[in-house]
Amino acid sequence: MPAKPALLITRRLPQAVEARARRDYAARHNPADTLLGAGLVEAAAGTDALLVTPSERLDQAAIAALPASVRIIATFSVGHDHIDVAAARARGIAVTNTPDVLTDATAEVAMLLLLAAARRAHEGEAMVREGRWKSWATDLLLGRQLSGRRLGILGMGRIGRGMARRAAAFGMEIHYHNRQRLGAAAEAGAIFHADPMALLAVSSFFSLHCPSTQETRHFLDARRIAALPDGAVVVNTARGDLIEDAALIAALRSGKLFAAGLDVFAGEPALEPEYRQIENVFLLPHLGSATVEARDAMGFSALDSLDAFFAGATLANAL
Ligand code: DGY
Repeated sequence: MPAKPALLITRRLPQAVEARARRDYAARHNPADTLLGAGLVEAAAGTDALLVTPSERLDQAAIAALPASVRIIATFSVGHDHIDVAAARARGIAVTNTPDVLTDATAEVAMLLLLAAARRAHEGEAMVREGRWKSWATDLLLGRQLSGRRLGILGMGRIGRGMARRAAAFGMEIHYHNRQRLGAAAEAGAIFHADPMALLAVSSFFSLHCPSTQETRHFLDARRIAALPDGAVVVNTARGDLIEDAALIAALRSGKLFAAGLDVFAGEPALEPEYRQIENVFLLPHLGSATVEARDAMGFSALDSLDAFFAGATLANAL
């Protein structure tokens, strides 16, 4: 029997995923779930494959330093801005991600952020928990209604479309910008804007669903926030660096924006400390794909890619 490929798994994974990895690979686990940081390269010594997560930064220098034995990197994520894919490719290292399986989970969190920010859920919850709720009142924590309003979506990939379906079920009118206009079936009645500024101008609610790239970094800056209707609600489940934090915080403080819901942050788990001080922002710790179902499926998808690679088959999720 041929030796099992040696696989470094950088973070703790769901039990069933780790069990399958142990069965099929000479797997090195990280039961303490420590962040490997610069230690990743050392930990990868003698391995054929890496199963990584967004908490590992594989930039050009890290890719260059990987042992020559490493032939594939499977990331337990759909986002891959933590990996310099071009540098990996140049070294002949395949890279795969886990699309599809986390679409519903992430779109659900986007909807949660939209509702929570618009209806001030966190303020209400804190009031009840802290015993500050004195009586029902006609003007208690008034929010913004979703139905009949326009939702602008930047990035109509799988998760953007998942968000569109959910928001449409809440009676919202969907507008979007995407690198390419979708076909009529995928568009499902959503209104395309070739110019992102035109999208912003109609978006009383605005949700980010594009990857983080050189082009999209700091997309939502002061100029683009100014283009949103006054009192808009902004939601981000994609990547923190799509937003210029200082501009968003200023707009939340001034009332230009009614509220924001954020699941992702530039430099997370650190975040701009002012976010903790302002009430009209609902904050989550990057929970987009955090369901039992999605996390199992992400692990199995990454292992499917590794299996296909070592069997010499085509990689469905190659980047
Ligand atoms: C991803 O898959 O990119 C998510 O952000 C991780 O939850």
